[in-house]
Amino acid sequence: MLREEVEAAAFVWRDHWYPVSLIQDLDPSAPTSFQLLGRELVVWKDRQGEWRVFVDKCPHRLAPLSEGRLDDSGMLQCSYHGWSFQGDGSCAAIPQAAPEGPEAKAWFSPRACAVAYPGHT
Ligand code: FES
Repeated sequence: MLREEVEAAAFVWRDHWYPVSLIQDLDPSAPTSFQLLGRELVVWKDRQGEWRVFVDKCPHRLAPLSEGRLDDSGMLQCSYHGWSFQGDGSCAAIPQAAPEGPEAKAWFSPRACAVAYPGHT
């Protein structure tokens, strides 16, 4: 194997930073979808003013989070059933969950978390 081939084989595309957009081109009031290395992603600005990047799939039924909106608390809200996510991907609200019993704590489950990537501005 040539040296270049060894280096190319060792390069893991997913382990590197990539610019995805100019800040000026993003709307801070709405999620934006984009594709990077064949992955569907969504970028949005949380209530702390940080830009966030998630896999563009809601953990509930895999609906595109980019079709959602920023809710009144500044969280990313899925347009299908209204689950809301904080900047770290954790679920903060499930509107349909019963107020008591096991459902009341469903949003604590790791299975209710969106997949968040580290971001950098
Ligand atoms: S698909 Fe997102 S809340 Fe149901």
